Amino acid sequence: MMINAAGQLLLRGKSRGVRPMFSSGLADLFFSSSASSSKRLEGKVAVITGAVSGIGEATAKEFVRNGAKVIIADIQDDLGCAVAGELGPDAASYTHCDVTVEKDVAAAVDLAVARHGRLDVVYSNAGIAGAAPPATLATLDLDDYDHVMAVNARSMVACLKHAARVMAPRRAGCILCTASTTALIGDLAAPAYSMSKAAVVGMVRTVARQLARDGVRVNAISPHAIPTPMAIRSISETFPAATAEEVRRILTKDMHELEGASLEVEDIARAAVFLASDEAKFVTGHNLVVDGGFTVGKDLLRNPPEST
Ligand SMILES: NC(=O)c1ccc[n+]([C@@H]2O[C@H](COP(=O)([O-])OP(=O)(O)OC[C@H]3O[C@@H](n4cnc5c(N)ncnc54)[C@H](O)[C@@H]3O)[C@@H](O)[C@H]2O)c1
Repeated sequence: MMINAAGQLLLRGKSRGVRPMFSSGLADLFFSSSASSSKRLEGKVAVITGAVSGIGEATAKEFVRNGAKVIIADIQDDLGCAVAGELGPDAASYTHCDVTVEKDVAAAVDLAVARHGRLDVVYSNAGIAGAAPPATLATLDLDDYDHVMAVNARSMVACLKHAARVMAPRRAGCILCTASTTALIGDLAAPAYSMSKAAVVGMVRTVARQLARDGVRVNAISPHAIPTPMAIRSISETFPAATAEEVRRILTKDMHELEGASLEVEDIARAAVFLASDEAKFVTGHNLVVDGGFTVGKDLLRNPPEST
């Protein structure tokens, strides 16, 4: 493999007495295969909502693999106990937490402190799709809108509020919120869902500056389509004639731009590990978009002329 001169300097900097451009921790992250196997969240305690399925479950597993202890907060009690059991009683515990109920969110945060004596990360991830598109503005059901906003947006305010209650006095902590690419491009999903996710990005920006003064970091993660139970249900309702295989193809191929790779829940889990780790100690107010380039551009012409 060819390495350019700067790269050689970086790699040999120590042995030749030259200061490396990166600290060794960051250099390890970029250049060493051991970085992925090291425990990047050792000693940290996290609460993850919506953690018994899809992105949240994968994140709980990745956090534990990286040395964290997690409180799994969800409403699917049987599944929650099973996921916590799989991770082991020392590493994970399940608590019933309906994120639309503020006292449930407060209790999940307090449980982390009571059980482990500290709280380093709150990942506000629980979400629902709401009514299937195409719901036009004219047909928008405001009861559905209220419910989607309660689960996807208001819940995140509750997580921010109660995470900050515990973290700000310690002057340290990290809060993550799952937004979506639907927050960035208009009308990709049902209106209520897209609006709720745009609100998430907005609230992260709103509170990140305030909490920066308290030493608490706040970031969003915006995944693109992944075939989780929520997404599969939503696409199946949108295209009722589609087979299970077609639904999967829509979510893994047709909605994506990047060739040669497919987006998996573990990709979001690893993004969350990075943001929660000390490697991201100066990253706050950011929206980490994990979309294989889907939102970086769009076709200039709706109906391009034939180019023969
Ligand atoms: N899958 C995708 O394509 C995609 C893309 C972008 C963003 N997201 C977002 O990712 C997050 C996770 O979704 P997922 O795709 O993993 O779906 P999922 O259905 O696999 O997981 C959602 C989890 O949230 C939980 N939940 C739902 N309502 C809750 C409530 N009131 N209180 C507590 N927990 C509740 C569910 O029980 C489940 O465990 C959501 O916020 C979703 O909007 C998903």
